[in-house]
Amino acid sequence: MIIGVPKEIKNNENRVGVTPAGVIELVRNGHTVYVQTIAGEGSGFTDDDYIRAGASILPSIEEVYGIAEMIIKVKEPIESEYPLIKEDQLLFTYFHFASYEPLTHAMIERKAICLAYETVEKIDRSLPLLIPMSEVAGRMAIQEGAKYLEKPMQGRGILLGGVPGVRPAKVMILGGGVVGTNAAKMAAGMGADVTILDNNLQRLRYLDDIMPANVNTFMSNEYNIRELLSTHDLIVGAVLIPGAKAPHLITRDMLKQMRPGTVVVDVAVDQGGCIETCKPTTHENPTYIIDDVVHYCVANMPGAVPYTSTLALTNATLPYALQLANKGWKRACAESDELLKGLNVVQGKVVYQGVAEAFGLEFVPAENVL
Ligand SMILES: NC(=O)c1ccc[n+]([C@@H]2O[C@H](COP(=O)([O-])OP(=O)(O)OC[C@H]3O[C@@H](n4cnc5c(N)ncnc54)[C@H](O)[C@@H]3O)[C@@H](O)[C@H]2O)c1
Repeated sequence: MIIGVPKEIKNNENRVGVTPAGVIELVRNGHTVYVQTIAGEGSGFTDDDYIRAGASILPSIEEVYGIAEMIIKVKEPIESEYPLIKEDQLLFTYFHFASYEPLTHAMIERKAICLAYETVEKIDRSLPLLIPMSEVAGRMAIQEGAKYLEKPMQGRGILLGGVPGVRPAKVMILGGGVVGTNAAKMAAGMGADVTILDNNLQRLRYLDDIMPANVNTFMSNEYNIRELLSTHDLIVGAVLIPGAKAPHLITRDMLKQMRPGTVVVDVAVDQGGCIETCKPTTHENPTYIIDDVVHYCVANMPGAVPYTSTLALTNATLPYALQLANKGWKRACAESDELLKGLNVVQGKVVYQGVAEAFGLEFVPAENVL
């Protein structure tokens, strides 16, 4: 198969879809790989690294899309890429369709095969291609939250871990999945007083078992969330309902209950956000303030640490990319329930229920398009 790796063009996105190590594996399996020039630069890989691994370098994004049967990238295509996408071209990348209707319509129109990293699902319902980025974003949420709690960044001016004789900051984490667990580990390690809320009691039992003593668990419901808002300094949004928009657990009126300088880091912003007042921001301009509450809502947090993120992501995506390249998407999806769940839009049809429901579009089961 002919595989294309374009350079990411979303604001401050420095990750790349395939590393030189991945190129070696793909070429060893008989495939041809074209990489756009300087696609790997932001992650520390030069064109020469790719050439030595067996790839060919193309000078423009148009040529990469023009030649490839399968595109492997990181973020969803942006508007300027839509016209480059060809009928029947396989796109293997993050899409997050449910949070952006124009992208869904554009991909339906292009009649491409959109296999979304975020909905590839294992039999235990875990999401193997979201996990590595969630690990990065969860850890970063605390690093960023701690920074924006500083007074010059318009935060409350409180040190996360406190000092002897002074209480540490209080961190509230909404959602105890991968992001939430990694955030809790970092915050706890820095000495903060941490509370994780989840609506899955089984998950709370597990977290209660494994977390250190400065992490408490709490059932997620409106009453409990309201109770914590006025005393917590840093709030991390980390809920997920797979393939659907995030529920607004903190509504606009609740901001009034928070103290001035409270920081919210809504990691779930890529699925619409679990804090009503969150709207996507970029690394160039990561925060804004509403009702004296600092909002950090960067939709591609791992993009700021591309070295770590590219390696973490491609460690997870490469085995699936190999299956797709070796068997073709139809056979690979027919033989793997994990990949089948990744299909979202196929040749003009919406084949992922959460996406169809989000925009009132007709749903066609993925099995029917194989
Ligand atoms: N902004 C970024 O750069 C970035 C990076 C990675 C992940 N994310 C996003 O972070 C979010 C969380 O991802 P994850 O991997 O941790 O998901 P996950 O599935 O591991 O965890 C989600 C958790 O939310 C819980 N949950 C669901 N409804 C809830 C509710 N009403 N109250 C409390 N908890 C609830 C679930 O029980 C689950 O434990 C996703 O939206 C993901 O797309 C964003």
